[in-house]
Amino acid sequence: MEQEQIDDLVRRCQEAKTHAYNPYSNFRVGAALLCQDGTVYTGCNVENVSYGLTICAERTALVKAVSEGHREFKAIAIASDLANETISPCGACRQFLVEFGVSWDVIMTKPDMTYKTMKTGELLPLCFVPESLQEEKVSKV
Ligand code: THU
Repeated sequence: MEQEQIDDLVRRCQEAKTHAYNPYSNFRVGAALLCQDGTVYTGCNVENVSYGLTICAERTALVKAVSEGHREFKAIAIASDLANETISPCGACRQFLVEFGVSWDVIMTKPDMTYKTMKTGELLPLCFVPESLQEEKVSKV
């Protein structure tokens, strides 16, 4: 990926964070998702009074993109307000990311615009993916 594209995603995920609907956790998260064709979708966390219904920023961005016809992605950048830690996607979001491939980039940022990058599959080792359903099975008894 070009540095310019990375810088743009890092900036856009910070901006997306400003739309977070987070009255229960007071924890803002933003995401910026780069599709293979260059389109970028952003997302934020959207909480609910029935807490378990909360949708994370990463899944908001992915659902926006997939619902507009995109299934191939280059990278997703994520931002929070944590001063000293890069934001790390939750387990549910990691599973959502590997659905669309195990070797695209997750750019985990800090508010000072520094970041670390890992592949989707590195964040969820031994993951269950669509191909898993096609693996050989024992015959049914
Ligand atoms: N959250 C995200 O949006 N993404 C993550 O990867 C971690 C957690 C949100 C969910 C909830 O609204 C708040 O952060 C606190 O858990």
